[in-house]
Amino acid sequence: MNAFLSFLFFTFASLVVTYALPIRESESSPHILYVALQSRGILTLSFDPCASVQTSLEILDTNTHAGFMPGWLMTRGDKIYSISRTHFPTNASISGGLFSFKKYWRYGEEDTHGGLGMSFVSSVTSGGVGGVYCDVSRDGRTISAANIDGSSVSIHALSESGVIGEASYVFKYNLSHPGPGTNGSQVQSNPHEAIFDPSGQYMFVNDRGADRIYIYNVDGPYSVAQISTVVLPPGTGPRHSTFRVFNSTRTYMYLVSELDNTVRVFTLDGVLNDDHVRNTTRNRPTLDLTLRQTVSTLGPGSYSTSPNDTYLAAEVVLSNDGQFAYVSNRATTTFASDTLAIYSVHPNSANDSAHLVYLGKNETYGKIPRHFSLSPDMNTRYAAVANEVTQNLVILERDATTGFMTRIVGNISFGTLDVTQTLGPAAVIWEGSELD
Ligand SMILES: *[C@@H]1O[C@H](CO)[C@@H](O)[C@H](O)[C@H]1NC(C)=O
Ligand SMILES: *[C@@H]1O[C@H](CO)[C@@H](O)[C@H](O)[C@H]1NC(C)=O
Ligand SMILES: *[C@@H]1O[C@H](CO)[C@@H](O)[C@H](O)[C@H]1NC(C)=O
Ligand SMILES: *[C@@H]1O[C@H](CO)[C@@H](O)[C@H](O)[C@H]1NC(C)=O
Ligand SMILES: *[C@@H]1O[C@H](CO)[C@@H](O)[C@H](O)[C@H]1NC(C)=O
Ligand SMILES: *[C@@H]1O[C@H](CO)[C@@H](O)[C@H](O)[C@H]1NC(C)=O
Ligand SMILES: *[C@@H]1O[C@H](CO)[C@@H](O)[C@H](O)[C@H]1NC(C)=O
Ligand SMILES: *[C@@H]1O[C@H](CO)[C@@H](O)[C@H](O)[C@H]1NC(C)=O
Ligand SMILES: *[C@@H]1O[C@H](CO)[C@@H](O)[C@H](O)[C@H]1NC(C)=O
Repeated sequence: MNAFLSFLFFTFASLVVTYALPIRESESSPHILYVALQSRGILTLSFDPCASVQTSLEILDTNTHAGFMPGWLMTRGDKIYSISRTHFPTNASISGGLFSFKKYWRYGEEDTHGGLGMSFVSSVTSGGVGGVYCDVSRDGRTISAANIDGSSVSIHALSESGVIGEASYVFKYNLSHPGPGTNGSQVQSNPHEAIFDPSGQYMFVNDRGADRIYIYNVDGPYSVAQISTVVLPPGTGPRHSTFRVFNSTRTYMYLVSELDNTVRVFTLDGVLNDDHVRNTTRNRPTLDLTLRQTVSTLGPGSYSTSPNDTYLAAEVVLSNDGQFAYVSNRATTTFASDTLAIYSVHPNSANDSAHLVYLGKNETYGKIPRHFSLSPDMNTRYAAVANEVTQNLVILERDATTGFMTRIVGNISFGTLDVTQTLGPAAVIWEGSELD
């Protein structure tokens, strides 16, 4: 066994026993990533920071049991969850499918590529057309699925072994009248995400078509109820959110909107981020959501675009130390490389209108960065970018002091330019990312 394989053995042997990966000890050891490649399935890749840009990424395994056009991934412990776009369970259906997998390590003579991958655990219908997103609640008992074309979100119970139950709820959304977005972006309700907040008490559904956020109270998979709706300006196109716990009762929420190309910073007050307090509080405080700041993803200030599909901001994430925020920009009228916008983050309840400060941008070295994610190490040393149209996965090295990317350290191609956006990588996550 070479050094690389023995690293894998060590890591995944302990995974089997403890259901948690050890925190990386050396910055130079190989990292593991998972990619939802729409044309093929879920790839397991290794990234070796010591190798050259063109050889540092290597495909270890291709799992083809994730349905038609897998488009989203999330991991928790030793499980991976994914959602497929349509054709579940067969081509006769137009619904998406929700899937769970167990990570495994296997080494044998026939397993020349390292034997790292995932085995199928379960699948159910996502309850609508256009499976696009799934999330697991903090306590691991509930999984959500968003169906962008079916205008629905489904909720399912999740067992400890990762088996997904049939839907306990399917929420349907309606548009009273079309929004101003061009190119069919706002002719129906398009839930793009159904994400749980860090306390696990709430689920936020971002509806791109309706310019709304639906907020739900969550108390396990059989107790999910809508408590309010946030109405955003026409043509906003809310897409994805991420959260940062500020203290035991306040969380910041960062919402990226793809039609007006902005990030909105909200405070959520009244959340119970302390596990003990949450467990022992019978009546939840009222959730108070307040918009604090709106910034452009295309440059400094609060400029927002017309919803004309020229730019479509896609993903928002924060570095693990909370000091920097990143947003991927997709420009649809040029084949030039797309960009990541970079902000410094200034949580200060006395001056929340200056929470995010635009610093600049870096190239994604590819076209249409539908999704990207940051490495789970303390310093957030790397960003992995899934460029959907150029069909390449790029790893950028990050400077933890300036927030900028210093150099490209990985680049692997999965195919040629695909303007249909039905083949390329749609999501990328890092092993160990459940630790943050
Ligand atoms: C199902 O549809 C996909 C995509 O159109 C196609 O590639 C596949 O061959 C079909 N499978 C069957 C069993 O018809
Ligand atoms: C959408 O319409 C369906 C069918 O008319 C209805 O059952 C459902 O309650 C509506 N949903 C919302 C969020 O208004
Ligand atoms: C939006 O529609 C215009 C006009 O039909 C077209 O030229 C453009 O390519 C479309 N943009 C996208 C992102 O589909
Ligand atoms: C959390 O921070 C907010 C804003 O500064 C403050 O109003 C609240 O009292 C804090 N909560 C706790 C438990 O300290
Ligand atoms: C809170 O409750 C959950 C689920 O019952 C339990 O796993 C967890 O240990 C509890 N945490 C605390 C701090 O009481
Ligand atoms: C889209 O809107 C922006 C302003 O937000 C404008 O600069 C641009 O010319 C518009 N593009 C098209 C194709 O209408
Ligand atoms: C709020 O932050 C902005 C931008 O950093 C700064 O110009 C302004 O002086 C600050 N205001 C207060 C009251 O601190
Ligand atoms: C990121 O942007 C900074 C500032 O413009 C630049 O110095 C750096 O070389 C860029 N990084 C990459 C990987 O292109
Ligand atoms: C990344 O790889 C692709 C495909 O091999 C290649 O076309 C492109 O030039 C590479 N980009 C960089 C920055 O290495």
